[in-house]
Amino acid sequence: MTSAPGRASLAKDPHDVASMFDGVAGRYDLTNTVLSGGLDRYWRTATRRELQLRSGERVLDLAAGTGVSTVELAKSGAWCVATDFSKGMLSAGRQRRVPKVAGDATALPYADAAFDAATISFGLRNVVDPTAALRELARVTRPGGRLVVCEFSTPVWRPFQVVYLEYLMRALPWVAQRVSSNPAAYVYLAESIRAWPAQAALADILGAAGWAEVTWRNLTGGIVALHHGIRA
Ligand SMILES: C[S@@+](CC[C@H](N)C(=O)[O-])C[C@H]1O[C@@H](n2cnc3c(N)ncnc32)[C@H](O)[C@@H]1O
Repeated sequence: MTSAPGRASLAKDPHDVASMFDGVAGRYDLTNTVLSGGLDRYWRTATRRELQLRSGERVLDLAAGTGVSTVELAKSGAWCVATDFSKGMLSAGRQRRVPKVAGDATALPYADAAFDAATISFGLRNVVDPTAALRELARVTRPGGRLVVCEFSTPVWRPFQVVYLEYLMRALPWVAQRVSSNPAAYVYLAESIRAWPAQAALADILGAAGWAEVTWRNLTGGIVALHHGIRA
């Protein structure tokens, strides 16, 4: 979830995004855990529970990166495949015993209705065309199948929202430029979180991309939200 290091701009280009993740793949898991203060584990467990997976189901973990999210999903007994277009991220997770397939979220290498459920954690914000990815997820999920999007969102308690978005997220790049060896990573992370739609707006985007009964649940006061949809 550290996001696309190596860039400071939100003008995303797919090749840039893939190569930037290739560049940070080796330290990705550790950085996430440190930056989130260990909360990443709780957010991943909550994502698995929200999907209500059953043994034997086929599940797509899109933008799976190193497969850390896929391993958590596989604890359910479902068959879970990690898909990502950064070969560096996939190979950094080579020790994780889950199937891995290289593929672009906007042109998935899967047949229609191939999956019972799909999920994307801390990935949709990084996809160049999130609506196209959501449509692709709908295409490869069977009618009645489930989607959970786990993504940074907008804190719900107004005083904290202001502190988080207007102070912490503005301060992060400033601090990173002075102390980090890879400041662009933090600039991008902060910019992309501030630019990302809040809970209700993201729900509308899911609805317009082929997902029905869209609801969401806030985690950690809305720092993260889980959006849930059913394939129409
Ligand atoms: C912040 S990481 C998230 C990894 C993992 N899901 C997790 O929870 O830690 C975002 C991932 O999205 C991937 N990504 C971004 N755009 C993509 C696209 N168009 N197709 C496939 N993967 C993409 C990146 O390569 C990166 O591995």
